[in-house]
Amino acid sequence: MPVYDIKKTFKYNFEHGPSISSETLPFKIIGQAKYPFWGKKLSSRLGIPAGLLLDSRWIRLYSQLGFDILTYKTVRTRLQTEHPYPNCLLVEATKPWLPGAIPDSVKTSKSYTPITKISMTNSLGVPDLQSPEVWQPDIAISKNYLQPGQMLIVSVVGTAENNHFDSFMQDFVRAAALAAEAGAEVIELNFSCPNSPVEEGHIYEAPEFAAQITRAVRQQVKDLPILIKIGYISEDNRLARLLSAVSKDISGIVGINSLKLRVVDQKGRQALPGADRSKSGISGYALKYLARDFTRRLVALREKEHYDFKIFAVGGILTPQDFQDFLDLGADAALSCTGAMWDPALALKYHLHYSFPALNDPPKKKKAIMKTEFSSNIEHVLKVNNLL
Ligand SMILES: Cc1cc2nc3c(=O)[nH]c(=O)nc-3n(C[C@H](O)[C@H](O)[C@H](O)COP(=O)(O)O)c2cc1C
Repeated sequence: MPVYDIKKTFKYNFEHGPSISSETLPFKIIGQAKYPFWGKKLSSRLGIPAGLLLDSRWIRLYSQLGFDILTYKTVRTRLQTEHPYPNCLLVEATKPWLPGAIPDSVKTSKSYTPITKISMTNSLGVPDLQSPEVWQPDIAISKNYLQPGQMLIVSVVGTAENNHFDSFMQDFVRAAALAAEAGAEVIELNFSCPNSPVEEGHIYEAPEFAAQITRAVRQQVKDLPILIKIGYISEDNRLARLLSAVSKDISGIVGINSLKLRVVDQKGRQALPGADRSKSGISGYALKYLARDFTRRLVALREKEHYDFKIFAVGGILTPQDFQDFLDLGADAALSCTGAMWDPALALKYHLHYSFPALNDPPKKKKAIMKTEFSSNIEHVLKVNNLL
């Protein structure tokens, strides 16, 4: 079962917390802090993007599981409920989609295996079930759970009202200010939610709006690193225009977000109930090659224009090798949402294979690791690396 139960509502997952309790986890992974990120050193360049870490309980769990860059799910300045159930469905993608060959629609699927090939759709609408009075102290709690060598990003979004750009931008600034006040080490501006009203979800496609919001937030949060979360852009010139508009004010780019696509059931009918829900965001395996293509082009543009922002690659990371592939392409960090949701041991497997961290346990406790619900894979990885 995934850590986030897709058969239940978002509210249920929020209220009940992750399906694995961090208190019962028999180990913590603590690496050596060696990767510089804005004045601090991180133990690794692996992390979780906005979406999976609904509050401090999720941050605590995944920080123990070896993910060192942790993003608090997008918050708002006000409460907002999620779209009607269901919010997440598995979808069929036998192969990752290629640039220039993205299908028009995708079918739902019942198959859960193998988890290294899972694709999903999510349609939540960037809900915020906590008001700032609740999420602000929870961010402080989240920070206390971090181990040395870890970093907390807080993702924020402005709430669009009546197509009024100025008030939308002011709300973005307010959300960022509240997150900064709460102790966010890095602020992420969500410019790309595929399930939001047009104004909120497509800012990354409107360079002049993106630049205005980023500039206003920069003035508000001063020296705090600012990231923007963007969706897939297929044309280089459009990507170049966005980068040129925001490059002065940003510290990094996170991408790609889920890809908006028509989702149908096995009979070809709209899969998710309700108006405006014929299309929703696709994540996981289907995105793997699109995200790589995107990272490659982002790295090339950064080099060509001598930009100095960091690149946080996201999309279709479901195996330890996937993390490494993105880092090898030149990304500064690699983050997994769908993969980490279905395989909580993903970072642990990476570390055992690529970074051999000192597990924070004496050898006899390695037996305890094997008692966890993801034991069989762990046992294999430990054996392969002569750690058993
Ligand atoms: C259930 C779910 C919720 C998400 N919520 C957010 C969100 O609140 N803010 C955001 O910027 N991205 C959100 N995302 C998008 C992810 O951060 C990520 O960009 C996308 O899923 C692609 O990565 P993946 O293939 O590793 O899942 C969400 C994704 C999923 C699956």
